[in-house]
Amino acid sequence: MKSILMSIIFLSLWLVILSLSNCTYKNATDVYPIDTSGCKTANMSYTNDIEPIIRENHCYTCHGTDSNSTGNGIVLEGYANLLKNGVPDDIIYRDITAPDGTINHMPGGYPDVSPCEILKIKAWLDQGYKDN
Ligand code: HEC
Repeated sequence: MKSILMSIIFLSLWLVILSLSNCTYKNATDVYPIDTSGCKTANMSYTNDIEPIIRENHCYTCHGTDSNSTGNGIVLEGYANLLKNGVPDDIIYRDITAPDGTINHMPGGYPDVSPCEILKIKAWLDQGYKDN
């Protein structure tokens, strides 16, 4: 009788632990989606839309032309460098949307790129990542 009681207690403990471990999530926006319906993504321009997003999200702090060592030698400043280091395989998009807390998540140490900015980058990539 005692061992049955112990088994029941252990089983309930496991259930509690299992249910608690299900409470993790990758990105806050998965849980609280942000309304991006007002986000303009038509005819994205590298100069007017995309470059400012990259600059304002501190990417050049580590990936600028004069900061090679901090960003692992990956330079993202200027269209030519961006193309050489990232855009063809959507690497920038992959890294700004990588789950929080993973090494690929960019920008390292700064607030996340906003959902609307991410949509704009995606749209620019889909539109052929033009140097316009
Ligand atoms: C605080 C420094 C820092 C900032 C700011 C930063 N990065 Fe990085 N980034 C790194 C380091 C270090 C690496 C190399 C390690 C790695 O792969 O995560 C890296 C790697 C990368 C890579 C290559 C990943 C790969 O797998 O080869 C890309 C693309 C990238 N960053 C994009 C960005 C973008 C876009 C921003 C701005 C939104 C940004 N980074 C901001 C430090 C930074």
